[in-house]
Amino acid sequence: MSSTSNENHTVAIITGGARGIGKAIAMKLACKGIHTVLFDIDQQALTIAVEEMVGLGYSAQWSVVDISKPEETRKAVDAVFETHGTIDILVNNAGILSTANILEVDENEWNRVMDINVKGPVFMTQHVLTHMTAAKKGRIINISSLAGRNGGLKTGTAYSVSKAAVIGLTKRTARFAAEFGITVNSVAPGTAATDMVQGFSDKQMASLLKNIPMGRLTQPEEIAAAVEFLASDLACSITGVVLDVNGGMYF
Ligand SMILES: NC(=O)c1ccc[n+]([C@@H]2O[C@H](COP(=O)([O-])OP(=O)(O)OC[C@H]3O[C@@H](n4cnc5c(N)ncnc54)[C@H](O)[C@@H]3O)[C@@H](O)[C@H]2O)c1
Repeated sequence: MSSTSNENHTVAIITGGARGIGKAIAMKLACKGIHTVLFDIDQQALTIAVEEMVGLGYSAQWSVVDISKPEETRKAVDAVFETHGTIDILVNNAGILSTANILEVDENEWNRVMDINVKGPVFMTQHVLTHMTAAKKGRIINISSLAGRNGGLKTGTAYSVSKAAVIGLTKRTARFAAEFGITVNSVAPGTAATDMVQGFSDKQMASLLKNIPMGRLTQPEEIAAAVEFLASDLACSITGVVLDVNGGMYF
């Protein structure tokens, strides 16, 4: 569903763009004149986000896409390319939290988290790279997590494993894509103020805050600023990095 579209502009796809960190990333890129395409499963939130963006004079559109379904994402990515003739930036942001620890996690939970947090970014990357390698340019930014770096303080097994896998995807794809002039990087937030952390109890949140040297949650806009940098010309020689945005919470 297109609200505004600018042909021949820089085009970015942001998964999970309807709210939270994804919406902040979409806003940050759109305010630079980039046409943003928001993929999400939540049509109501998508409509609200794109209306807000268009109201600010930004160029944006939405599409209801479940990133855990590779055939669905392939069609959605190809449709963006057919409309705009280019896909310059992919931000693999959509993800879900799971707090089940190693003694609790069952096969259904494992598969649910892996399908969205790992299979989603893998096949989104594959579909988008088909177009980017032909164009010999592009930027891919994967939203990992501190949980994929240090195991996570309160996150579950499947979640931490999935976010470590996103870092592996980033580094392997960075090597593959370098010869095509495409950079692939990751941003690893600590704990950010979004709906996702509503799953934490007050007690868990208080103990989390004690572990953040800056003593506060990271704002989605602060994570979006790191993505904006990695998507910009300033970062043209940076590939395969994991950029931590976590208020100093490394352990
Ligand atoms: N919030 C944090 O503290 C935090 C910390 C580290 C990493 N992250 C990561 O940042 C990313 C965004 O997190 P957030 O806090 O904004 O989450 P959020 O729950 O606020 O938003 C996630 C968005 O993804 C969408 N989504 C979920 N499943 C989807 C699917 N199958 N297909 C398409 N869209 C889907 C949701 O509808 C939602 O709009 C996630 O990958 C998350 O793991 C978040």
